[in-house]
Amino acid sequence: MSKVLVTGGTGYIGSHTAVDLLNHGYEVVTVDNHINSYDAPLQYIEEITGKKVSHYNIDLCDKEATEQLFAEHQDISAIIHFAALKAVGESTEKPLLYFENNMKSLVNVLSLAEKYGVKNFIFSSSCTVYGQATDLPVTEETEMKEAESPYGRTKQLGEYMLKDLAQFSNINVISLRYFNPAGAHSSGLLGEAPKQVALNLVPVITETAAGKRAETVVFGDDYDTRDGSCIRDYIHVEDLAAAHTCAVTYLLDGKNESSYEVYNLGIGEGVTVLEAINAFEKVSGKKLDYRIGPRRPGDVIAIYSNYEKANDRLGWEPKYGIDDIMRSAWDWEQNRPF
Ligand code: NAD
Ligand code: WQD
Repeated sequence: MSKVLVTGGTGYIGSHTAVDLLNHGYEVVTVDNHINSYDAPLQYIEEITGKKVSHYNIDLCDKEATEQLFAEHQDISAIIHFAALKAVGESTEKPLLYFENNMKSLVNVLSLAEKYGVKNFIFSSSCTVYGQATDLPVTEETEMKEAESPYGRTKQLGEYMLKDLAQFSNINVISLRYFNPAGAHSSGLLGEAPKQVALNLVPVITETAAGKRAETVVFGDDYDTRDGSCIRDYIHVEDLAAAHTCAVTYLLDGKNESSYEVYNLGIGEGVTVLEAINAFEKVSGKKLDYRIGPRRPGDVIAIYSNYEKANDRLGWEPKYGIDDIMRSAWDWEQNRPF
């Protein structure tokens, strides 16, 4: 039974991935400083899987504290590094906080991985590294444009650092570029539950419908798209979690062709904001209170993925679409246990 360290393990994607890893026979150690997550997911990860998780409440910027974890688990086979701050707007107000938290934690974890002989590393990257892409769908060969925010820059910098590290050390790295993760676990026990106010489209919609917000504002309907609103590639969090298990297994089986590989994780379909709202209204049977507002500065007009590489190499295939995402997110919003 191989042991996987999941940093940011009580966060949104980390908690779903912990479940998927446990369901595939991996042992899981999680670490999180709970800056953006509660510890409740631990209980639900165990309830869903019937398996125990070792959890550490540690700030990964504290190298000494982090080293204790590595010293207590000298048999870690792979690390999935989710831990990061991710609020794009906040990163423009406090760039140094983002550089410090996201880069320092990454360097600390990597240097301890090297010291304790952990040879497999998976990095949470983002479609944000492509910036304002012009050729759609984007493949892994699509060039990175200027980052639209300091947050986006931390993902680009992370990728460049990891590429060099993989070249000049014996650590194998996969960077996974997520498109727009959304939705919740089919058990109803896990979902998006950030401490910070949720700003992503799907929770904004479900919170509006649940009466927790007055309205949803559509950020612009005058773009050059089929209905004037922006296009994104929404990926169900369970599909995303499954891709991480595929990536871990792929590395542990030694199937990687190169010490540094990059994969897009989206479902390859562009959905407009208005189409996402329609999907919500259809599956929930509720009319959403929304209005058209001004464009949001920094928004990419349209982006969606080509995920063929992840399909070919990792054997990963997404199962869910926008309706499933909205159904699970709405179910979560109404019945969430924490
Ligand atoms: P999240 O905020 O739910 O999870 C991240 C977790 O990391 C949180 O629980 C937070 O408390 C923890 N963390 C942050 N800094 C830490 C530190 N210094 N030490 C220990 N723990 C720390 O976010 P998420 O949506 O699950 O995202 C996971 C990863 O995926 C992040 O790296 C994010 O940048 C990336 N990503 C997310 C999205 C998205 O839209 N959700 C898209 C692309 C990439
Ligand atoms: C989706 C669409 C908005 C809220 C962000 C990060 C990106 C990545 C994924 C981490 C856009 C529109 C939204 C609202 C709206 N995260 N919208 N009203 O901006 O695609 O990506 O999350 O790496 O880096 O930037 O996601 O959910 O904020 O927006 O109209 O209240 O919904 O304009 O077109 P985004 P989002």
